[in-house]
Amino acid sequence: MSTLIAPSILSGDFAHLAKDIEMLSKSNADRIHVDIMDGVFVPNISFGFPVLKAIKKYASKPLDVHLMIIKPERYIRQFKEAGADTLIVHFEACTHLHNIIQAIKQEGMQAGVAINPHTAINNLEAIIQDIDQLLIMSVNSGFGGQKLIEHTYLKIELSRNLIEKSHAKAIIGIDGGVDLSNAPKLIAAGADLLVSGSFIFGSGNPSKTISDLKEL
Ligand code: DX5
Ligand code: ZN
Repeated sequence: MSTLIAPSILSGDFAHLAKDIEMLSKSNADRIHVDIMDGVFVPNISFGFPVLKAIKKYASKPLDVHLMIIKPERYIRQFKEAGADTLIVHFEACTHLHNIIQAIKQEGMQAGVAINPHTAINNLEAIIQDIDQLLIMSVNSGFGGQKLIEHTYLKIELSRNLIEKSHAKAIIGIDGGVDLSNAPKLIAAGADLLVSGSFIFGSGNPSKTISDLKEL
């Protein structure tokens, strides 16, 4: 399977979102990564349901919705209704994570769990079999444009081992600071999906940059 590419719309042009979503829809991207931030779980606020619904209207690729919010269990159905295909919650934000994963699946979405840089992979032993995507944060959540943390490579290898040992089907996603220089090493370590925001949108030709990442 070739590596899945999920451009992060957080780095798009919010005054011309339709244009960016149409570009991503026509590109070689596999999914569109949508970051929701509440200003509490992370020190930044992005956007909520009305914007997500607007994105959905123009998107012909699945939406991976990355919730950087506390108590995500309050809004699972609303995110489904707003257009999420995969709903990703943070390990650090969920008291009853198992329950929340089941609720996401019951709504007909794929379930993802994101972990911040300080969270060790062995915390996932009891739920790895229940999820569709493990999203390893390679920067501290909250902002685009940060530098990838080197410890990420080791975490990918540990996740790969855990998934094999558990006969789990979860894919491993990497989010933060991904570019063409570190992507080959991330893929070699075992990443299945790469999220990339500022690198794609900051390049002269985002659609070509997506293809370049896809062809690695
Ligand atoms: C950061 C977000 C990322 C962000 C990645 O908290 O979860 O999805 O958009 O952006 P880059 O690729 O610029 O690090
Ligand atoms: Zn994200």
